[in-house]
Amino acid sequence: MRKIIIVDDEPMITNTLSTLIELMLDYTVYTFNSPADVLSSAVVKDEHIDLIISDFIMPGMNGLELLSAIKALQPHIVTILLTGYSDKESAIRSINDLGLYYYLEKPWDNNELIKIIQNGIEKTELETALHQKITVIEKKNQEISRLYELLRRDFNREMDNVLELVLSLSNVIEAKDQYTDGHTRRVADLAIALAKRLKLSEAQIRNIEIGAIIHDIGKVATPEVILNKPGKLTYDEFEIMKEHSEAGAHIIMPISTLSDCVPIVRSHHEKLDGSGYPYGIKGDEINIETRIVAISDIFDALYTDRPYREAMPFEDIKAILDHDADSGKLDLTILKILYDLHREGVIDAIYMGSEDIYRA
Ligand SMILES: [Fe+2]
Repeated sequence: MRKIIIVDDEPMITNTLSTLIELMLDYTVYTFNSPADVLSSAVVKDEHIDLIISDFIMPGMNGLELLSAIKALQPHIVTILLTGYSDKESAIRSINDLGLYYYLEKPWDNNELIKIIQNGIEKTELETALHQKITVIEKKNQEISRLYELLRRDFNREMDNVLELVLSLSNVIEAKDQYTDGHTRRVADLAIALAKRLKLSEAQIRNIEIGAIIHDIGKVATPEVILNKPGKLTYDEFEIMKEHSEAGAHIIMPISTLSDCVPIVRSHHEKLDGSGYPYGIKGDEINIETRIVAISDIFDALYTDRPYREAMPFEDIKAILDHDADSGKLDLTILKILYDLHREGVIDAIYMGSEDIYRA
């Protein structure tokens, strides 16, 4: 049952009010005739009180001071001040300071008073229910955040494991192929820079990085005499060399986390006009990640020293790439970005080992 306290130094008022409320509302009413009695009573200390109606001018302590003290003990309580006309100003001021729910002038209207009491209690109960719902939602949100964090940690741990595996695979190739020292890391850095300019998603950029590092993993199946041959390969040797793309795809296929990298590994020697290998796929059949890695791979091969020739000047490389783009082999949009990156010094930063510029 809801509980109400009435405080007034005139017993006639407390009696009248308590009779009225008990008659009109099925509430338990406690009456007091001095603020000190209220504050020292067990009712205020031990019980949940819904509402308090207090007189303003009382001996020892005024109504506002009393309501303020009660609010400290029962923060949810609805406070109503009963004032004489002359006290109206201070009552109005205290509405905000104290969080006073209502002030009522004497003499009050019985029906109005009952309505105010009902509304005040109803409002507080709605607020309490809302607050409880918010608390439940906040708890659920916390739980969702905690689960998300666990999943994210698991995912990151798995990605870390995969990256370690990928780096280890890339070491396998570099140990076997003397031409590729540092090649895969540079291809990855260049490809990431291109992908960021093309505003690819984080997932795509991650695939590009991993795909670039392992794009030549299939070379573990290529005989070393062919891999390390200083001169031009014969037709047959080149046919064997070409098998490394499909071999690489087969090597990584059992690793589900690397499934999105399979097209990069398999198709990094395909050309947009269908003249590449291993399958001669063309156009949209070659995804953007693969196109980016392919161009980065070609660029790095030309831009670095090889045992059989020195690194080519950028302008000469540009001429070769432009020619390939004109004949429909390479993606012109990606090439243009590559040229932008060169003009801005980003490529040289990559080749100097500085990663600050293009990672920004
Ligand atoms: Fe390759």
